[in-house]
Amino acid sequence: MSKKRIAVIGGDGIGPEVTKQGVKVLEKLSTITDLAFEFENFNVGADHYLETGDLVTDEVKADLTSFDAIYLGAVGDPRVKPGVLEHGILLDLRFSLDQYINLRPIKLLDSKFTPLKDKGPKDIDMMIVRENTEGLYAGVGGFFKKGTKDEVATQEMINTYKGVERVIRYAYEYAQKRNKENKLTLCDKSNVLTYSHDLWQRVFKEVGEKYPKVNQHHMLVDAMTMKMVRNPEIFDVVVTCNMFGDIITDLGAEIQGGMGMAVSGNINPEGVSMFEPVHGSAPDIAGQNKANPLAALLAAAMMVEVLGNPKEAQMIQKAIDLSLAENQTTVDMGGKLTTDGVGDYICSVLG
Ligand code: NAD
Ligand code: IPM
Ligand code: MN
Repeated sequence: MSKKRIAVIGGDGIGPEVTKQGVKVLEKLSTITDLAFEFENFNVGADHYLETGDLVTDEVKADLTSFDAIYLGAVGDPRVKPGVLEHGILLDLRFSLDQYINLRPIKLLDSKFTPLKDKGPKDIDMMIVRENTEGLYAGVGGFFKKGTKDEVATQEMINTYKGVERVIRYAYEYAQKRNKENKLTLCDKSNVLTYSHDLWQRVFKEVGEKYPKVNQHHMLVDAMTMKMVRNPEIFDVVVTCNMFGDIITDLGAEIQGGMGMAVSGNINPEGVSMFEPVHGSAPDIAGQNKANPLAALLAAAMMVEVLGNPKEAQMIQKAIDLSLAENQTTVDMGGKLTTDGVGDYICSVLG
């Protein structure tokens, strides 16, 4: 079997601590399966920016497109103004590599990890398909009379037919294949965003005609947050815009066991995809070997699956299930292990 070439961007804070565990687990996986990996580390993040002024250069971006996948930790550093690294690295990569789908599973693995009363793994099991290249994230806007009492600041929500259609089509395909209720919920704010989300509504209906087996469902985003807490079982696949997807997936992370368990795949179905935990660089716990690496390991499993190896992805998933069942976890999950300790445990039970 050919080697999968993986570009690793550890990034900032706990990013490199958790991606190190992912690389370790994938290396172990390659010794017990036919899979083979070649990893290349990219020095991108706050240190590199503070030393050189570079975020991701055009050369780095061109180089990244030659890889099978990108494995990212997190970016963000208190020494750098908020937004510089997030826009200049993470969003730039998502946009430049046209990773127009952001897949964020919300799946509770064990009832003991959810703060929701009387809800279990059967109830909390949904896939959020977040638009990933436009919306309020497009960076269109500006200031007028900045710094004065007459200041105007705008930030526009960009919705293109192409962008909306391709994410909705992907979500229908996903809902058709997914083994739950073949139900797709459009989450929007069409009662207020009467231009942007009118487009989403129309495209949802238009594309839906080609997927008669998928049950169409609609929910306004404010009600969505309420229902995710009260009745998470009603969701199967959910498609939403960039900003709402960001917000509801942090809520989703908490109901499935916290930020240490939430995973994100930035997918370009025709190009190179990037896999990362949903959490950030967590400067408050960086360098202490106590970050939960499971989200990064779930990201590694998703990467292996999207690269066409579902059986091997399942092996990582099973090892993670075991670590949770046996309390072989970091303190945030109720365990006593260090970041390295969890990585070592997963390697020891993989198989
Ligand atoms: P955060 O996700 O970094 O941290 C939020 C809280 O969750 C913190 O208390 C942290 O200790 C905890 N936490 C996060 N990941 C954890 C893990 N693996 N194990 C245990 N606890 C964990 O969010 P924040 O504090 O809002 O942001 C910090 C920085 O990260 C900011 O610069 C932000 O812009 C950036 N950020 C980056 C990404 C990314 O690169 N994908 C995502 C979100 C935030
Ligand atoms: C996420 C993060 C990013 C986002 C930030 C860091 C730009 O919060 O991946 O959820 O808003 O998409
Ligand atoms: Mn977020």
